[in-house]
Formats: sequence, structure tokens, C-alpha cells
Amino acid sequence: MARRRLCELDDIRNGDALAFETPGDDVPNIFVVRKGGDVFGYLNDCPHWNISLDFVPGKFFTLDKRFIQCSNHGARFDPETGKCLFGPCRGQSLTAVPIAIEDGTLWLDEYEVRLAERGEWRLTPRPD
Ligand code: FES
Repeated sequence: MARRRLCELDDIRNGDALAFETPGDDVPNIFVVRKGGDVFGYLNDCPHWNISLDFVPGKFFTLDKRFIQCSNHGARFDPETGKCLFGPCRGQSLTAVPIAIEDGTLWLDEYEVRLAERGEWRLTPRPD
């Protein structure tokens, strides 16, 4: 199975997220949340209006770091499930992206295979 290296686990601050972007307009960007040794990947695509969550690039969390927050209309999501708990898309969920961790390295797996069917693309970490 094709896969792509994203980053090292330690590149993501614990309790925060790191965004990655795809250059093509037709492929949503992704972001990866870290909780200790676990990671949770999602499309950067709010289910309310299908636009990016982070008005300020790379800022995905509420100030208290408890929830992923869409900066457009304030929807809040559980970081570990992606489910919207508050806001206009309550009950809907972010689209999960499978991320594998091997020896501290994060890999993108099936997602890339699915996207490859929609055209050529490459993944680039978003600069700070
Ligand atoms: S676009 Fe995310 S809450 Fe409206």
C-alpha cells in the first residue's frame, strides 16, 4: 500500500495539532491532533460549510485546548472522535484520516490511495 511520511510524533506539541496542505484545490488539507502517544487525523474541512476550520492557519483548538474549534462559526469538536458537540453542525463529524505511527514517525496510509484516484497530488507541511 502506498503511504507517505508526514512528520515525527515530536513535531506535534502534545495536546495541539499540526496542519498539512495539499497544493490542489480539489483535495482538502488535513491536520493531525496529538494526545500523548496517540494521533488523530482529520480533513481540514468543517461539515457546516465545507471550508477550512482554521481561519488563522494551524490554530485548531479552543483556548483551553479541550476542543477543536471551527473559527468560522464556532463549532466545537471532540479531538479524539471528531464529533461536533456544539455549534451549527452538532451531531456531524469531521472526516477522519487514518494515520499510522511506526517508531515515532507518522505515516499517511489509505487516505493517499483514495486521493490518488482523484488525481496527482503531494503533501507539504504547512510552515509555522
Ligand atoms: S463553517 Fe465551521 S462552524 Fe460554520
